[in-house]
Amino acid sequence: MDTKTIIIKMGTEESEEHLTQLLAPAAEVIRHGGLVAFPTETVYGLGADGTNPDAAAKIYEAKGRPSDNPLIIHLSRPEEAEKYAYTNEVYYRIAEAFMPGPVTVILKARETVPLKTRGGLSTVAVRCPSHPIANKLISLAGVPIAAPSANISGSPSPTTAAHVIDDMMGRADIIIDGGDCDFGLESTIISAHEEGGVVLLRPGRITVNDISALGIEVRVADAVTDKLREGEVALSPGMKYRHYAPRAEVILLDGDREGRYEYTRSVEGRIAVIAYTEDTPLYSELPDVSVYDFGSSMDKLGQAHRLFDILRAADKENYDVIFAPLPGTEGIELALYNRMIRAAAHKIIKL
Ligand code: TXA
Ligand code: MG
Repeated sequence: MDTKTIIIKMGTEESEEHLTQLLAPAAEVIRHGGLVAFPTETVYGLGADGTNPDAAAKIYEAKGRPSDNPLIIHLSRPEEAEKYAYTNEVYYRIAEAFMPGPVTVILKARETVPLKTRGGLSTVAVRCPSHPIANKLISLAGVPIAAPSANISGSPSPTTAAHVIDDMMGRADIIIDGGDCDFGLESTIISAHEEGGVVLLRPGRITVNDISALGIEVRVADAVTDKLREGEVALSPGMKYRHYAPRAEVILLDGDREGRYEYTRSVEGRIAVIAYTEDTPLYSELPDVSVYDFGSSMDKLGQAHRLFDILRAADKENYDVIFAPLPGTEGIELALYNRMIRAAAHKIIKL
């Protein structure tokens, strides 16, 4: 691809007025059907005018993404969903509690959202990001911004501007460098368009408990934790694609720290291990094993923040195998579990 990409650097603490000035060219590019990569509180997005099918088509091309995998439309305020979707009570309860913030709600779509944007579905995914740069960009553009994660399809979502530059140089018109993303894993996706009740399709920063606490009964889709069975239809088209997958084989170890260490020690080849901070000294006994610090075992937010950066860094090293601890499935850990079993293509060794 040979687009001339412009990188614009800005901080999150810019004054309202300065941010408006800095973002004006990017908003202009969006309105004219171009592509802008921008930071959000979850991961970086690759944005285009969500009401313009030709602009949406450019996103699929730049990412190498199958065109039946729909895009999330990003709004600056939750009420704007009225123009693009049939909202309901559940939507407004979630919006009141968590928007702007790291949650996406699937609703029945209005005709104002082109089929290209929603991958041919009758529903549309709506999200209202809290990141000041993302939110300001959307309001300045004056259109909903359709944006998937700003990675080449199949590689981990980008959580730093350097990740976006690696993947989108020559593909996007503008890359906004707004520093590291806060959470580091993609938004929680909730299906709330009625049939089948409220379903969690992708776990994230907003947890099942957070939603249940609002008095909303939420079912976790099987695909969040399991493999899709032969012939099963994915509720979310993105679930059927191999995601977050580094080139090396990733294997999750289900056991205690000694078990994980002993197993790693017994394997030969170019080995990397993603280890909790307190476990890293163990591996200094194994000089041939490369160690990536995952953060303290208790610090789930820290782990979420580091995961994709570690997978990207490890991907550059041609390891034969990368070992990582199997996370639990409670609270925010469900998001880690979901991303890591995908990176590992469901390879788990019970120790
Ligand atoms: O945090 C995030 O959500 C980031 C930032 C940029 O906002 N975006 C993101 O988009 O992760 P993407 O396209 O990488 O992932 C969106 C997922 C895909 O798996 C897609 O299949 C699913 O949402 N999705 C989108 N629209 C849908 C719909 N109408 N019904 C079911 N799933 C949908
Ligand atoms: Mg993605």
